[in-house]
Formats: sequence, structure tokens, C-alpha cells
Amino acid sequence: MKSLRVLTGITTSGTPHLGNYVGAIRPSVQASLRPEVQSFYFLADHHALIKVVEPERIQQSTLEIAATWLAAGLDPERVTFYRQSDIPEIPELTWFLTCMAGKGLLNRAHAYKAQLDKNLAAGADPDHDVSAGLFMYPVLMAADILMFKAHQVPVGRDQIQHIEMARDIAASFNHLYGPHLVLPEAAIEEQVATLPGLDGRKMSKSYDNTIALFGPTQTLRKQIASMVTDSRKPGEPKSTEGSALFEIYRAFATAEETRALAQAYAHGIAWADAKQMLYERIEREVAPMRESYERLMADPGRIEDILRAGADKARRLSTPFMHELRQAVGLRRLGQSLKPAQAQTGGPKAMLPGLKQYREEGKFYFKLVDGQGQLLLQSRAFDSPRPAGELVARLKQGDDSVLLEYAECLEPASAPQALAQALQALREAAEAGPT
Ligand code: TRP
Repeated sequence: MKSLRVLTGITTSGTPHLGNYVGAIRPSVQASLRPEVQSFYFLADHHALIKVVEPERIQQSTLEIAATWLAAGLDPERVTFYRQSDIPEIPELTWFLTCMAGKGLLNRAHAYKAQLDKNLAAGADPDHDVSAGLFMYPVLMAADILMFKAHQVPVGRDQIQHIEMARDIAASFNHLYGPHLVLPEAAIEEQVATLPGLDGRKMSKSYDNTIALFGPTQTLRKQIASMVTDSRKPGEPKSTEGSALFEIYRAFATAEETRALAQAYAHGIAWADAKQMLYERIEREVAPMRESYERLMADPGRIEDILRAGADKARRLSTPFMHELRQAVGLRRLGQSLKPAQAQTGGPKAMLPGLKQYREEGKFYFKLVDGQGQLLLQSRAFDSPRPAGELVARLKQGDDSVLLEYAECLEPASAPQALAQALQALREAAEAGPT
């Protein structure tokens, strides 16, 4: 059973480089193949608005990052792959969380503090060039994570603080309104390298030292040729320690290949030859992906369709969950009892939703109907009754991932609210125990 939810996003502000690939894209695609993992991957385009004010660049970056993820092997059937701005529940949750987040907590956020320190050092106004968006960045990120109840968030070290903040904010929410939000954890993979860039510092857009992932091969060759090395001559032993070239090679090579390069260093390989080895090793991994990347880039309509289908899938979870959260904080229909939970379980029997299993033409199904008999949810066909029965049990326990994988919400326009209510009633009935 897929019990571990993993979620991560990439800000759509630039063109993916080797550091993004090794540090984020490749590990996330690998994680998505683990059978016990249910993954959520998204393009953080609302985050991009914080620093990019060129509309074309945001659009282009969204296209490039989506194409990169797909070319790297992400299977949109297997994971939930979507664009942040297609999920209107995220900004709504952001506001709920904004009201939970201490200003003091946000004052300590690295990205904001870095700008503040820079301003102070320059003798400028501390808030110079600080938008409220930059200040609120961690809250938007918390909404991304908490909306889909992620357990683990694979991120680089620079993002750990944001995950901790998401936890803190979620804990405050739960303390006030009950256990609705799942507390996430950062997943830092120790083997995943932070790649050095052309100048030896961390590969990063802001240092302008990146190597493009899917640039033309000549560019890759040229960029590698321009990498900073020391001045040791061919024949002189070289040190792998602190060699950016070696580090990047290691990120692509097997342990054995890496050992071989270390030996070549000790035997005095010429820098030009080491660079050639690096070029060939990267190219071996990247060339096949580059082909599918180029095919995808030539067909933006196809990527658009994939992202829309992903958003539909994601909203099967976010729409009912947001409804639950609105209820929790008191944004409710007037006239509804102040304690809807008790009113529903204690109300007339006819109001209770029902989960029914049935058989048709040799196939097995389940469905969820509300108190008036309106069909809310329809399962896929199963060949035997067991899996259908297990999913019914999971739904009763409040496991909403069933909605994502095995069932269709039938009337997208009206059903989410009714569906959320029905699921909540089921969950409460299960918590109250058998009657
Ligand atoms: N802040 C992340 C970055 O710049 C991107 C991001 C946005 C993200 N929302 C997220 C990452 C949620 C993980 C989870 O790299």
C-alpha cells in the first residue's frame, strides 16, 4: 500500500541546470518509483512571482522544468504532477496559515534575513527591496506541503528551515482547530550531492556558475572546458579534494568509475583529459533524455494537457480537504449547527451517507452516496471483491488517497462539498465506533 506521501516543488524562475538535476530532479524521479511512495511534484509558479517580474521568463521556465521532469522519467500516471497556480485552494490555505504564523517566526527566515543583512551592510533601509511576498514565502510553501498531507519533503539543506516552519505552523493550527494537518519532515538524502559550479562554489543561478542540463552539446563541452582547476601540469599528481570536476563526475558515475578517476588523478591525468572524461560521462546520461526533452519542448500543448490532468487529480484531494478546513475554522454555511459533527452523527438516519459495495457483470465496485441517495463517488472496476473491500475500509478510516487512485468524483461542479461532508461523516462514524 502506498502509505508514504512525498511532495516537492521547483520554483519556475530559471532553466534547469546540472545542480537541479542531481540535487532535486533525479532523486525525486527515483523516489517516485518506490512502490510504497505516493508522490506529488509541482511547479511552484506562485513562488516564482516573488523574484521574477518577467512574464515570458516564468512561462518559459514552467515549460522547461515540466519538460525536464518528464524527460527525466517522471510518469504522470504514477504520480500527481501539477502546477501550483492551478490549485486555487493553495492560496486560500496560505491565508489560513498566515493567521497562524508568528511574525517573529517569519523574521527568522533565511531568505528574508539574507536581504535584511545585505541592506544593513550597505547602510540602506533594512526593508529595502523586501516585498511582503518574500517575507511570506515560507507560509506559501507550508500551504503547498500541508495541502497534500505530505509526510516527507525532499529538499536541499537550504530549505530545511522552511519545512520546520511548516511543521510549526501546522502544529499551531492543529492546536487550535484539531488534528487536521499532517506534520511534515524534511528528507535530506545524504548521498545526494550539492553540486559545485564552474567556479567551485555551489552551483547556483545566483552565482552565474551553472552548467545547463539540456543545452547544446557544444555548450556543455565549452562550459566544462572553462571549469576552474589548479595549475598542475600533466603528469603531476592531482588532488581530488576540493576538485569541482571530480565532484561533478562523482555525481554521475558509479563507485567504480569514481575510483578509477581518483587513480587517474593520483597518476597525474592532464586536466584536459579529465575534462573530456567528465564531458563523456555526463553526456552518456543526458543524451537520451535530451532527445525526449526536445520533443516535449516542441509540443507545449501536450505538456499543458498533462499539467491540467494533474491539477484535476490534485484537486480531488484539495477541494474536499479545503472544505474540511473551512468548517474547522468556522467558515461555515449559516444555519448549520455550530458543531456540525455532532449534528450529523446524531441527526436522522436518512442523512447518513453510505458506502456500498456491489457487483456488476462479473466486476466489483463500490460507491458512496449521500443521505438523499445522490451518487458522490464511483470506484473503478475491480476483478475481485477484496481490493474494493480494502479501499472501502481505508475510506472509512479517512484515507483520502483512495480518491486519487481508485475512484472518480462524479459531478465535479457540485460534488466536492457534498463529498467532503460525506467523508467527514464517515470518519466520525468510524471514530465513534460501531453502532
Ligand atoms: N522553495 C523551494 C525552492 O525554491 C520550492 C518550493 C516551493 C518547494 N514550495 C515547495 C519545495 C514545497 C518543497 C515543498 O527550491
